[in-house]
Amino acid sequence: MAGVPADARICDAACGPGADIPALLAAAPDGHVTALDKAEGFVKQAQAAHGSDPRTTIFAGDMAAVTGPFDLIWCAGAVYFLGVRQALDAWKNALAPGGAVAFSQVCWFMDAPSQTAQEGWAEYADMTDEPGVLSAIDAAGYDVLGTRRLSDAAWEAYYGPMDARIAQLTPEAGPALAAVLQEGRDEAALWRNHRTEFGYTLFVVRPR
Ligand SMILES: C[S@@+](CC[C@H](N)C(=O)[O-])C[C@H]1O[C@@H](n2cnc3c(N)ncnc32)[C@H](O)[C@@H]1O
Repeated sequence: MAGVPADARICDAACGPGADIPALLAAAPDGHVTALDKAEGFVKQAQAAHGSDPRTTIFAGDMAAVTGPFDLIWCAGAVYFLGVRQALDAWKNALAPGGAVAFSQVCWFMDAPSQTAQEGWAEYADMTDEPGVLSAIDAAGYDVLGTRRLSDAAWEAYYGPMDARIAQLTPEAGPALAAVLQEGRDEAALWRNHRTEFGYTLFVVRPR
């Protein structure tokens, strides 16, 4: 975010409930954040939390169809819905001259991850290692400005509150909610037990 001008036009692509909007506005206090997600429930939460700020526009929509122009497209934990190549292709025309894309992408951190880790990510058959993501970035015609792996502290900042919420909901949970809570427990356990094998890496990229 250090390279973002104070008046940047930022797109939060697949914003979820809008947790990143304050940080994006802090990086560009004179700018504007256009935030969208295809899940209406998340959009309503984001609107309730941040929609009164005149520096935001928040709506339900498809991140593959954003038009811009944006100085930065930020996409946290959602590029895999489109694929890295497809997302970067879709966003090229939505970037202002000099604009960049910053996204996080789940990657394998080793050549031979354990069977448990592979089973945990079985639904995401296209998952690659970091060189695989770099190849897709290059094939899409982008240069890499920087990369960084998400820290353990960042993961715990997500799973810690989730653990607490699961503990709060468990005593009263019916069968459907109990199944969802167990999925949450399993996901947190997968990361805690196998975090050297996979994780999210942040990539900041710009069209060549
Ligand atoms: C793991 S969540 C990440 C949400 C948010 N970026 C965050 O970090 O909290 C992935 C999000 O991608 C959204 N999503 C998936 N495909 C999308 C699409 N084509 N257009 C817009 N949003 C999409 C989902 O609805 C979900 O909110």
